[in-house]
Amino acid sequence: MESLSQENRKFNPNPQFVKQAKIAGMDAYKELYQKSIEKPLEFWSDVANELHWFKPWDKVLDESNAPFYQWYTNAKTNISYNCLDRQVEAGKGDKVAFFWEGEPGDKKAFTYKELLDEVCRFSNALKSLGVKKGDRIALYLPMIPELIFAVLACARIGAVHSVIFAGFSSESIRDRVEDCQARMVITADGGYRRGKILELKKIVDEGVSNCSSISEVLVIKRGGEVAIDCPMTEGRDFYYDVISEDCSSVCPPEEMDSEDLLFLLYTSGTTGKPKGIMHTTAGYQVFSYITSKYVFDLNDEDVYWCTADVGWITGHTYIVYGILQNGATQVIYEGAPNHPEPDRFWNIIEDYKVTTFYTAPTAIRAFMKWGDHWLEGKDLSSLRLLGTVGEPINPEAWMWYHEKIGASKCPIVDTWWQTETGGHLLTPIPGAIPTKPGCATVPFFGIEPLVLNEEGETVDVGILAIKHPWPGMLRGIYGDQQRYIDTYWSKWNGRHYFPGDGARVDEDGYYWILGRVDDVVNVSGHRIGTAELESIFVEHESIAEAAVIGIKHDIKGQGLLAFATVIQGKSADEALEKDLIQLVDKRIGKFARPEKIIFSSDLPKTRSGKIMRRLLRSIADGDDLGNITTLADPSVVDEIQKQFN
Ligand code: WTA
Repeated sequence: MESLSQENRKFNPNPQFVKQAKIAGMDAYKELYQKSIEKPLEFWSDVANELHWFKPWDKVLDESNAPFYQWYTNAKTNISYNCLDRQVEAGKGDKVAFFWEGEPGDKKAFTYKELLDEVCRFSNALKSLGVKKGDRIALYLPMIPELIFAVLACARIGAVHSVIFAGFSSESIRDRVEDCQARMVITADGGYRRGKILELKKIVDEGVSNCSSISEVLVIKRGGEVAIDCPMTEGRDFYYDVISEDCSSVCPPEEMDSEDLLFLLYTSGTTGKPKGIMHTTAGYQVFSYITSKYVFDLNDEDVYWCTADVGWITGHTYIVYGILQNGATQVIYEGAPNHPEPDRFWNIIEDYKVTTFYTAPTAIRAFMKWGDHWLEGKDLSSLRLLGTVGEPINPEAWMWYHEKIGASKCPIVDTWWQTETGGHLLTPIPGAIPTKPGCATVPFFGIEPLVLNEEGETVDVGILAIKHPWPGMLRGIYGDQQRYIDTYWSKWNGRHYFPGDGARVDEDGYYWILGRVDDVVNVSGHRIGTAELESIFVEHESIAEAAVIGIKHDIKGQGLLAFATVIQGKSADEALEKDLIQLVDKRIGKFARPEKIIFSSDLPKTRSGKIMRRLLRSIADGDDLGNITTLADPSVVDEIQKQFN
């Protein structure tokens, strides 16, 4: 936060870039922004008219049941049509939709026509197994072409996809499948990560063994040099290559209502239970399309590459839906950035002549650590635009990205948004907005941010709020609409959307994101609820109480630090620590492991028994603790502090 408030470097958009940009110069941005705020209905109607509709809408926005806003009411459309058929009809059938590279080096490419055929075949395969509009389908897949086919096939036939990142444990799969009563899981025998094979089907088997809603498990053979052993349950499990063998490559798209559910994506919140964020068809379609178009300034010659996984929202919006709706060419890569060596990303940029590169600050910091020598001799001159997403980027990492990867000529779009927002809300528009290292800068069209205090008064440093609804916003939390109201709309009595981030607005009207203001920690750009971890720890028979906080981490941005008290008579030793880590792996996945677990006889609490997480944070940071005499038992502070020396 300190380093951010001292940052005052400013970089104007590269004039070369501005010349060909869709939004060229500050005046162009201001003009369109003004219109989007003053005449939002006209603005959002114009944008939607760039896409295909089977039937037009009655109303652009229906606010009658706020905060359950509805967009483009009663229209009929299909997002897979806008991603695929529309491109083929516009003469882009032979244009490459994506180049795919597997971690071991296997390569494939699909034109828009080929992708349409594959998606239709996949759609017909799903139909042949009985999948119908409205069915929920869980996807647990590596980053292989079939993941893209499967997502778009669900959208095409109106099934609701719920993609589960393939780093989640079998128990996480079970929770997510049960919450939405999914009827099918689509998975693969395996996938590659850092040279190893992840046996995904086995994890799925464990996860869904007792899920009564599941009637089919559809298994894709990843293919490659190693055959992956894959037990199949008769009558439930089917191989995709067998099922799809006779399927036609023609499948008319379902005419979806604007507010029909398109997908669910589970994300961590401040309570133990993950939330199934609901996105519907038309609003998300329009918002993913238009943010991709302007923020990435996509044109016909571009080769775009986003390094996210489709298991997270970034992959949904800025690999699948937003990018394909713009008819752009992209690269999709299956594996790790440092396999076989830490220059893999730079080789991919060079090989495919990537022009637009979108990645996470945590990856940038890892590259900085691995050393600049991995860049020697790499030709990155094809790049014209860089982007970051997922967490605040520290100015040092921003400058490295700017100089070493962007050769000081590529604009950087630091995009702030969330699973819930569907797409970018704060971001530079690359040919228009001067950037500042570490700053998400200005609102996207149609977005009016505010920085408020708890009372709803405007302040310079406070809590970020979003004033009006926008098409890409979530429509709720699956099965728990009260939680939707409580989480996002109760802070200022339903007046503004509450994203859960702190923000500062500077003298230029730029917004600086200061991190979460709730009990969510952002580890390498992945949201982890501290309450979720705490409840996992106390499941262990030796643990009485636990508190989890976020701490600064050089690479991950934030790491997790756990404090736990041990039940009398049990010993706090390495074996216990190992046990607890295994429990985290089992319940969530390895990516949610804490950096360290600190055991003590008690936790610092107020006299009313509330655990003082803020104090734990100060202890961890070595900050002055102030007056601690009001604690129920001040001596525990000493006991914990000693473990930091
Ligand atoms: C954080 C990821 C600062 C923020 C797209 C938000 C960011 C949460 C940025 C959402 C950014 C995302 N600068 N912080 N550019 N982008 N965040 O749902 O705390 O995985 O609330 O969506 O990530 O994480 P989610």
